[in-house]
Parts: sequence; structure tokens; C-alpha cells
Amino acid sequence: MSYIVAIDGPAGAGKGTITKLVAKDLGLVSIDTGMLYRCHALAVLRNKIPISNEKEVAGILEKIDINLKNKNNKQLVFLNGEDVSTQIRTPEVSGIVSQTSSFPSVREKITKIERKIGYDWLKEGKNIIMEGRDITTVVFPDAKVKIYLDATPIERAKRRCRQNKRNGINQSFEEVLQAIMERDKNDMNKPVGALKKAPDAIYVDSSKSSVNKIKHKIISIIKQKTKEIEQ
Ligand code: DC
Repeated sequence: MSYIVAIDGPAGAGKGTITKLVAKDLGLVSIDTGMLYRCHALAVLRNKIPISNEKEVAGILEKIDINLKNKNNKQLVFLNGEDVSTQIRTPEVSGIVSQTSSFPSVREKITKIERKIGYDWLKEGKNIIMEGRDITTVVFPDAKVKIYLDATPIERAKRRCRQNKRNGINQSFEEVLQAIMERDKNDMNKPVGALKKAPDAIYVDSSKSSVNKIKHKIISIIKQKTKEIEQ
């Protein structure tokens, strides 16, 4: 029987990197749900919708088509058939997605999209690994494997600084740390879909371990849990 691995955690904990590596090793379909929220935010920008207007911000989801596709082991996101995988990473989108994703009516609609994507893969007999902020708690609370991947704010800020340096972005460590703590506060205090550890999720701290070590740890959790299912 096909199974779901659900992973949640704060920005910079390594969910994206780890999820892709685990998916590759175990042959799972990996799904990054942040791309759906970013695609919606891009549609809000393109349609010049005032971001404080929840009705319009959520309403646009009735008029657009958001779709994920996997190409050469890479996840792409399509807005009305157009590949917008690069456009969703601009500072403009990053600047509003926290707010557009906080509206309950937006989350309700995107949760439906996430479940449909998940069930469609399961129907095809695939196992999936889905990462986000509320996958273990709201989207697939009955997932066979549930993991909360965490790291200290200082470690996440160090990672973000290294990433910024590679991308030519100049921001002090203090500024980066402040932004991360601000984002944690927003993510953890959303009225619906707030980031929190599900009581039955396994807590994994990536602060002091290499990517490889965390990958192996998560693979062994998945193997253990799926063996339990088979028994
Ligand atoms: O993982 P990310 O940074 O690409 O996510 C983009 C935004 O979407 C971020 O502000 C958190 C939000 N998000 C969410 O609220 N729920 C999810 N399941 C995934 C992302």
C-alpha cells in the first residue's frame, strides 16, 4: 500500500534539501508545498490585488489554475499553464507570501489542492514525501510518517547568510537572525495552519548534523515506520 511522509518545520531547517535527497534515495515523489503558496502570491501580484483584502486574495484561487509537475526529478509549478518556477522566487513574491498564506480562506483552498495532488500520486501507486508548515497537522494528519525538522534560529541564520553570500546578497548576521525570528513568529501564530509539532511527529534537530547524517536518519525513520505498517 502506498504511503505518505509528511515533513514540517521552520524556514531554513533544511526541509527542501533533505526532502529531495530522501525522495531520490527511496524513489518517493517529493512535493514542496511552499511553491503552491508562492504561486498564489505571484497571481495576487500579477492581478494587482490589494494584499490586505482577504476576499479578493482568496477569490483569485477560483479563477486561476495552479499545477505541479515533476520533470527530471525537479518539481515545477505552473500558473495557468505557464511555468513560473523561477518567478515565484523573486523578492516581491517572498515579501508578500507570508501575509497571503496567512488567510484562513486561502489555506482552506490550497489545502484542497495539496490533498488532491497527494491522492492523485497515491492512486498511481506512488509513495510521496510532502513538506511545508502544516502537512503533519492539517493536510495529512494521518500520514504514516510524520517528522518535524528543526534547527536553532542561530544555525538557520548562519545557513541563510552563507546562501546570501553565494547569491551576492549583503545583509548582516543580526538582520538575518531578526528576519528569521520574525518569520517564525508569523508562521507559529497563524490563526489556521500555524507551524507546530504534531504530538505524534518525530522531532529531528538538524542544527549540529551534516545534511548526509540527517538524510540517513530520516531514511531510517521512514524504513522503520513503513516496516511497522507492513507487519
Ligand atoms: O517553504 P517556503 O519558504 O517556500 O514557503 C513560502 C511561504 O509559504 C512561507 O511564508 C510559508 C508558507 N507556507 C505555508 O504557510 N504552509 C505550507 N504548507 C508551506 C508554505
